[in-house]
Amino acid sequence: MSQPKQATVRTCANIALAKYWGKSDVTLNLPAVPSISMTLSPMFTTTTVTLMAGLDRDELILGGKPALPKETARATALLDRIRARAGVTLKARIESTNEFPTASGLASSASGFAALAAAATLACGLKLDLNQASADARQASASAARSLFGGYVELPAGAPGDSSLAATQLAPASHWDLRIVVAVTAEGRKAVLSTDGMTHTRDTSPYYAAWVNTAPAIADQVRAGILARKLEQVGPAMEHSTLAFHACAMAAAPAVIYMRPATLAALSTVRRLRDDDHISVWATMDAGPHVKALCSATDADRVSQALLKTEGVLRTIVASPGPGVEIL
Ligand code: DP6
Repeated sequence: MSQPKQATVRTCANIALAKYWGKSDVTLNLPAVPSISMTLSPMFTTTTVTLMAGLDRDELILGGKPALPKETARATALLDRIRARAGVTLKARIESTNEFPTASGLASSASGFAALAAAATLACGLKLDLNQASADARQASASAARSLFGGYVELPAGAPGDSSLAATQLAPASHWDLRIVVAVTAEGRKAVLSTDGMTHTRDTSPYYAAWVNTAPAIADQVRAGILARKLEQVGPAMEHSTLAFHACAMAAAPAVIYMRPATLAALSTVRRLRDDDHISVWATMDAGPHVKALCSATDADRVSQALLKTEGVLRTIVASPGPGVEIL
């Protein structure tokens, strides 16, 4: 192929309403449980992949700075699979910028690897097939499989060996105009990366099997609630999913604890809004200290104001259902 080849794409972060935690196949990075997410606008990652002669290894620039060797190695593994399919041998320069804090529990790896899978596919001269790009992204980071699609997205659990597992769109962004109010409680990188946290949980938590057995029924509730647009069904199931996975991680030895004092303060704000002010709002947390509150578009301002007044909450981001991958 002619060189250099370049492509730029934009993807949104996503927040799992039904959580993925645990792998059924570590080599293929297959999730042990189904997960369901909302793709979040305006939390974007923009990634440019340029294939260049003269590079002896891939270069990854995150937010203008060279990435850690571990991060670059993960990007190279994803690029290698796409290059092999395309018959390309050139190394790549990857430039990626996030419009939200990197590695702080705001799923930047999800939008990052989704954008990389799509941009690398195009830079290698292949047609962008969303199902294939989602499977490629999933092998790098399972939550990334969901960020290729807009709106509400499901990644099923994977049977060991199922290398083609990809996410699918449950409903487009226009299906339901919900809001996620992100209460940012810390800047900087999280202490235990999700991959390490889930491996350690599987190996040492006595509650791991219980979590894996329970998660599908919780995902069923989330899916049915989304399809029927019933916040009163999605919200409680979403909170159950997050607290069940955090409890499972906390029971690992030694414990994996992502919550901080501000996390608990924000959680109790959400409970107060619900119990005292009768606002339909529920909370979820990922592998970090932030709290994400799910509510209607009408209630988002009130929820955001209450979270901003909460001790330890630094700022809020109000996110809406966002689009799938966009080629720039
Ligand atoms: C808590 O997708 O980051 O955010 O596949 O090992 O890269 P790897 O894990 P990752 O895990 C995300 C976990 C979560 C829940 C979720 O997004 O479903």
